[in-house]
Amino acid sequence: MSANKSLLILPGDGIGPEVMDEVRRVIDWFDRGRAVKFDIEDGLVGGIAIDEEGAPISDATMDKAKASDAVLFGAVGGPKWDGLPFEMKAERGLLRLRKDMDLFANLRPALCFEALADASSLKRELVAGLDIMILRELTGGVYFGEPRGVEDLPDGTKRAVDTQVYTTPEIERIARVGFEMAQKRRGIVHSAEKSNVMHTGVLWREVVQRVHDEEYPDVELHHILADNCSMQLVRTPKQFDVIVTDNLFGDMLSDVAAMLTGSLGMLPSASLGAPDPATGKRYALYEPVHGSAPDITGQGIANPCASLLSFAMALRYSYDMGDEADLLEKAVSNVLEGGMRTADIMQDGKARVSTSVMGDTLLRELDKLNG
Ligand code: IPM
Ligand code: MG
Repeated sequence: MSANKSLLILPGDGIGPEVMDEVRRVIDWFDRGRAVKFDIEDGLVGGIAIDEEGAPISDATMDKAKASDAVLFGAVGGPKWDGLPFEMKAERGLLRLRKDMDLFANLRPALCFEALADASSLKRELVAGLDIMILRELTGGVYFGEPRGVEDLPDGTKRAVDTQVYTTPEIERIARVGFEMAQKRRGIVHSAEKSNVMHTGVLWREVVQRVHDEEYPDVELHHILADNCSMQLVRTPKQFDVIVTDNLFGDMLSDVAAMLTGSLGMLPSASLGAPDPATGKRYALYEPVHGSAPDITGQGIANPCASLLSFAMALRYSYDMGDEADLLEKAVSNVLEGGMRTADIMQDGKARVSTSVMGDTLLRELDKLNG
């Protein structure tokens, strides 16, 4: 048995492999600079897995993912695979990873780096210093609810069905994660649903309130309708600390929150399972929130920050290496302070650089910080 930390890298499609290359260089740096060794394995997911292995993720890759301390995921999908039948879509690879590993807690921190406060589409004073955690339920709701599908009707038209479904335990466990995170932050939870029109929203509100009253009365809890939440996010984003919400609302609200920080290219995420009661070990997957970005694939201009910050989250949550996570986050922040910008966060008077030059600069910054 190796004492090294194991990591499965699934670069996927589009800009996924490009940004993952920069993470690999940082992993090599940790080996050299801090004597931290990772056992890295590679696998296929998404369109490339469909082409080479006949499925958006193979059983063998699923087994590797479960055996690994953490999975680092790039991005999936692209025009080449858009027309495929539903179960063969590139996105199914990601959804299977989430479902089969029961990664129910999706942490999407929206943090506005000081250097990027002017890159947001919102005014500087609204976003400077912003630090929100969107906690998205990731294995339930309309993404997986049954029945689902499309049927042909006798009159030649079709009928499509997706089902939004949540149970008490599913809401309880995500609510607990949210309250526990808030206790370590500013102590405020906003729970977002649509209890004005959806039964799942009514249950969601009831269960979150009960978990709060019984277990976390010290946390300040607000219920907010999801549509209002999206409006409030662009009006006065700093009122939020932790936002707990379901799978679909979390998908949308986290894209909104991303733009507050300057670019989707900045946002990391962690998807965590429940810790094993005996060992404390939990399944975990880390991924940039941006997608495969077919429009800029192959040009070497993608922003590697979201992937690098996702790896920092892995250091913190899967490898218990908080100091190393701080170091990497600080290095990213300093590179931005120094004026380096990929195209997505470009501003007047800054230096527009490629993916790999951003990576070079980051490695130099790590050397500097490491003394
Ligand atoms: C995300 C993405 C995914 C989702 C897609 C790629 C399946 O948009 O992680 O936010 O809808 O969950
Ligand atoms: Mg999304």
